[in-house]
Amino acid sequence: MVTLHRPKALNALNSTVMREVTAAVAGLDTDPGIGAIVITGSEKAFAAGADIKEMAELGFADVHGQEFFAGWDALVRARTPIIAAVAGYALGGGCEVAMMCDMIIAADTAKFGQPEITLGVIPGMGGSQRLTRAVGKAKAMDLCLTGRQMGAEEAERAGLVARVVPAADLLDTAMATAATIAGMAKTTAIMAKDAVNAAFETTLTQGVKTERRIFYSTFATAGQAEGMSAFIAKRKPEFNKG
Ligand code: HXC
Repeated sequence: MVTLHRPKALNALNSTVMREVTAAVAGLDTDPGIGAIVITGSEKAFAAGADIKEMAELGFADVHGQEFFAGWDALVRARTPIIAAVAGYALGGGCEVAMMCDMIIAADTAKFGQPEITLGVIPGMGGSQRLTRAVGKAKAMDLCLTGRQMGAEEAERAGLVARVVPAADLLDTAMATAATIAGMAKTTAIMAKDAVNAAFETTLTQGVKTERRIFYSTFATAGQAEGMSAFIAKRKPEFNKG
């Protein structure tokens, strides 16, 4: 589990936080013993956005020249499934980081939003794209143009969030879900993640072809051999044993 911990600023995402989080995720991602990763924040905030104080002094040449905050993209290159466990505020860059993860599990206290417009800017880490793909144009426009926050129930109804749980159960649920995923064959989990992600990148025809190819490839894995023989033998499969 990776925990965002900058309590004085509601986990606002500055360059240091970005470097540390992406390095931690990269380290876990390359560890063959890790089958799923959970990223979380505090009870009050997953993250209240990119650090406004860090950004306030910058001009166009700075943000353009430095490819500001592009480093967060490293999260979407991780092969291991990542769960965002969100309580409290997930605003601006915080919402965008949660959406870079493969699944969001939300506490009933979670509040999602893209309030950048209230600061005179727009989402810059994929919010206008990933939010729109997740919840559709109507709600994405609503959030990006008004800057309003959306509660956990609304976020689940809209398709942004996989599950909503009582705040007290958030970490247990996220860790149990991660353990379930980690109990599957890791190669197959990576393939399943790749197949679902293809839906965001391609046409339906191309996506179905991609899925078919990946499906055929699962028959070259130890996971398929173990999963199917365990079913026939009426025993539990034991994946990831070396
Ligand atoms: C820097 C932040 C911050 C942020 C909160 N803080 N959010 N500092 N950047 N994004 C700091 C506050 O300045 C304050 O510090 C402390 O955290 C506690 O915040 P409060 O505002 O006192 O708390 P509260 O009244 O509970 O209000 C919570 C809040 C509010 C509604 C979440 O903090 C808020 O509106 N924050 C900004 C949300 C936002 O606009 N996010 C989008 C950022 S732009 P002090 O020192 O005063 O105690 C973005 C662009 C992404 O994310 C694109 C990247 C390229």
